[in-house]
Amino acid sequence: MPRLTSSPPHIHFFLFFYIPSVVFLCSLSHVAKSQIQDQEQQVLLKLRQSWQDPSSLDHWVTSNPSSHCTWPEITCQESSITELNLNLTKLDLSYNIIPGEFPTVLYNCSKLVYLDLSQNYFEGPIPSDIDRMANLQVLILAANSFSFDVPASVVRLRRLRILHLYMSEYNGTYPEEIFGLSDLEELRLEYNKFVPSQLPQNFTVLKKLRFFSMARTNLYGGIPETVSDMEALEHLDLGKNPLTGEIPASIFALRNLSELYVYETNVSGSIPQAVSAANLCVIDLSYNNLTGNIPEDFGKLRNLCSLILEFNQLSGRIPEGIGRLPALSDVRLSKNNLSGTIPPDFGNFSPLRRFEVAYNNLTGAFPEQLCHGGTLSWLAAMDNNLNGELPKSLGNCSTLSHVMLHNNGFTGNVPGGLWMSRNLTALILSGNGLTGELPEELTASSWRNMAVFEAGNNLLSGTVPTELTELPKLTRLLLGQNELSGILPTDIVSWKSLTTLNLSHNNISGPIPSEIGLLPELTQLDLSDNQLSGLIPPEIGQLNLNCLNLSSNRLRGPIPAKLENAAYDTSFLNNPGLCASNSFMRINLCNAQSHRLSKTNLTLIVILAIAAAMCVLLVVLFTIRASRKNRDWFDSTPKLTSFQSLNFTESNILSGLKEHNVIGSGGSGKVYRIIVNPSGDAVAVKRIWNNQKLNEKLEKQFAAEVEILGNIKHRHIVKLLCCISCENSKLLVYEYMKNSSLDHWLHKKKRSSPIPGVANNMILDWPKTLQIALGAAKGLCYMHNDCSSPIIHRDVKSSNILLDSEFNAKIADFGLARMLAKPGEAASMTAVAGSFGYLAPEYAHTTRVNEKIDVYSFGVVLLELTTGREANDRDEDMCLADWAWRHIQDGNPISDALDEDIKDDSNVDEISNVFKLGIFCTATLPSTRPTMKEVLQVLLKCSDPLYNVEKKSQHKFDVVPLLENSKNEEMPRSNFHVLECNTY
Ligand SMILES: *[C@@H]1O[C@H](CO)[C@@H](O)[C@H](O)[C@H]1NC(C)=O
Ligand SMILES: *[C@@H]1O[C@H](CO)[C@@H](O)[C@H](O)[C@H]1NC(C)=O
Repeated sequence: MPRLTSSPPHIHFFLFFYIPSVVFLCSLSHVAKSQIQDQEQQVLLKLRQSWQDPSSLDHWVTSNPSSHCTWPEITCQESSITELNLNLTKLDLSYNIIPGEFPTVLYNCSKLVYLDLSQNYFEGPIPSDIDRMANLQVLILAANSFSFDVPASVVRLRRLRILHLYMSEYNGTYPEEIFGLSDLEELRLEYNKFVPSQLPQNFTVLKKLRFFSMARTNLYGGIPETVSDMEALEHLDLGKNPLTGEIPASIFALRNLSELYVYETNVSGSIPQAVSAANLCVIDLSYNNLTGNIPEDFGKLRNLCSLILEFNQLSGRIPEGIGRLPALSDVRLSKNNLSGTIPPDFGNFSPLRRFEVAYNNLTGAFPEQLCHGGTLSWLAAMDNNLNGELPKSLGNCSTLSHVMLHNNGFTGNVPGGLWMSRNLTALILSGNGLTGELPEELTASSWRNMAVFEAGNNLLSGTVPTELTELPKLTRLLLGQNELSGILPTDIVSWKSLTTLNLSHNNISGPIPSEIGLLPELTQLDLSDNQLSGLIPPEIGQLNLNCLNLSSNRLRGPIPAKLENAAYDTSFLNNPGLCASNSFMRINLCNAQSHRLSKTNLTLIVILAIAAAMCVLLVVLFTIRASRKNRDWFDSTPKLTSFQSLNFTESNILSGLKEHNVIGSGGSGKVYRIIVNPSGDAVAVKRIWNNQKLNEKLEKQFAAEVEILGNIKHRHIVKLLCCISCENSKLLVYEYMKNSSLDHWLHKKKRSSPIPGVANNMILDWPKTLQIALGAAKGLCYMHNDCSSPIIHRDVKSSNILLDSEFNAKIADFGLARMLAKPGEAASMTAVAGSFGYLAPEYAHTTRVNEKIDVYSFGVVLLELTTGREANDRDEDMCLADWAWRHIQDGNPISDALDEDIKDDSNVDEISNVFKLGIFCTATLPSTRPTMKEVLQVLLKCSDPLYNVEKKSQHKFDVVPLLENSKNEEMPRSNFHVLECNTY
């Protein structure tokens, strides 16, 4: 990453500190020449103040104007300061933006005991003579870009008590003797891509070590039994390493151990008993292969505050005693095979904040007192076999933010208070047997934070209350498959954030409110299988919906013209009164059906029109014949504009426009592959429309494409060789891309037309996939940033990313691109461009789109690349971007979403990073999406095998808030809190 190369203004501050004698001398001698002694004294006192009045300078007491000359640190000549000597013992420069190598000038500070350079931009190796700072007891270099090996010289700093080297870019080894630094109290090496290593077989000397972390440092092998020799250990973190074997029972013999983290490793076996580790507060053994039961004696860990065992294969019951622990606040047991009932005491003895037991086989009633302590905020128990009524107490729990209880067997009414819960953000109750009505008293002031309300597939009755519409943050409202009736409220304009509305399979009647067409963010609308009647309001056509289902209602009349689109061909079925003007809509045709009165008139008009057209045609033909005898339509006025030297002629092209050369056809015409010379060179020719007069739209499209492409020369943008313009047809001649377009490679089941010369069973491996993503990002980045005026592509999708013989990606099809900055063009952009599944939500309701719509579409491509799924799979009921978001929201591990064909242990982190990037890019709000430049930087980092992707996650760019805002919903998963490629 390009770091600061020129000195920022702060650099003076830095120098000021670490070479005090030099800088002070210069600046102060200047003062001395022009000012009186008193001012010198004031400067010294101010300096002391800015150093937070260290006690070692307490003797700086003023009695007369030159008294400072008597202070031992000061040397004066003629009552004016000439030297300032400070024995620096502690130097803390953390959280600055200081670049450069390790500042060896510090060696001059021979008294230094404490050095903190963390959270800066230092790079290069730690010097091999760092042991010259022999007095160091505390060395904190964390969160910098130091790389190479950790030198053996560090181990010669025999007095070290605290050594923090975490989150840097070390790519070599660390000296094993580090485990022999017997005075160490804190040793933190986590988040470094060290050469794989194993923990030493004995820890016999680290008797004072309190804090030990080597999370994500490529540790393999087992955790040694001797871990218990570190008898002072309070904090042990070995997470995110490919460790194997079992968790040694000796860990639980550490009497002072308070926090134990062994998550995301490959350890297996059962969890040892923990009788003597009475101080344990945090146990995080999540994401492992642990089996067996949760030890009964965890119920005796009086200090236990967090028990995190999620994503293992634990079975059996949850020990009763755990429910009675007095300090427990965080319980996460989801995704195991736990069975039996949930101990009823949970919440009764301790203030729970988080309680998650989802995806198990738990049965019976739900604990009554989870919110007894008044702190519960996360509650997840979906996908179990729980039953009975939801505890009334949940209705008096104002701290609740997320309640996810779907897919259980809960019955009875929703506790009344839940409808009033002020902090509720997500309430998901779908797939139960809940009854009762949606309450009328629900108001924006009670549910002001509600973003997701899902209660589909229950037995809820009554109407959709108007009050439910006063929720400005609501993004998803899913109430399908209930027994709702009555008419839909019309006063819905406050649904400013609503993206998904599903009220299907109910008994709702009356008209569809036209106001639905004004909802600015709506992309999915399912009102199917109700009793809705009347006309479809034309406003619905204003929406840009990825999913629309109005079938099985009693709607009538013509469907709005803008909805007559093959993408909606299953959206209107089973409404006997509806008609369309196109047969591909799979419903009755309008003119065949009604309007009997006007039928005769219509016929007459048609006949007259045909007659007139024939007259015109005859005249035209006659004229053409008279003026240009025997010429076919092609060479009427062929005009070739070339953009570089060509090795073919226009007749090579024209003679190749044969049906057997067609390799594709798009919205505006066919694409041919034409061999242009005997040596077999091929070009791709896009022919815009057949031999009919170009309409205005196509003419514009053509002009735009030529104007842009002719002027762009970039490695990742498809090269336009020339264009041939005839009166009736336009031909764009491109370089031929041997490996076709990306979509041919992605979707196996759709791969019907094999690519000439390529084995049909070949799949893209991950390095190739990443290379393609990078190339496409470079092309788009260039268009957004490096052209004379920024260009928005407007139709980025996998079929517009072409691949040459080396799998270099090139962006194609600028038919829809427009110069951003051109005035007066905006009006012509209203026609809906883009492709379903790739469309950014804002496309639907504004003509003032910016380049973030390309970022969205590119994000969808990234999701396609990482999951192997289609952008808009008609078998799924949601588009890929929503599916991916949903996958995370449901608490599933990212690795489950990834394409099985490309992922393996070595690349799963990288693919996950690119998947996450896809999530960021598809944020609902354009402003929260990254720019293409940022996307490119992240991809570069992801593809750099040396880069430690998680460094500085706390420092430079914490992406969690971005993620949360991006969908107006909070991330449910705690382990999602580290963004990996985050050096935007
Ligand atoms: C600073 O160093 C000088 C010379 O080495 C020594 O005489 C003095 O005692 C030291 N002062 C402190 C506060 O360490
Ligand atoms: C380690 O990283 C540095 C700096 O990025 C690089 O110059 C060096 O070649 C790398 N060493 C290894 C062994 O990869």
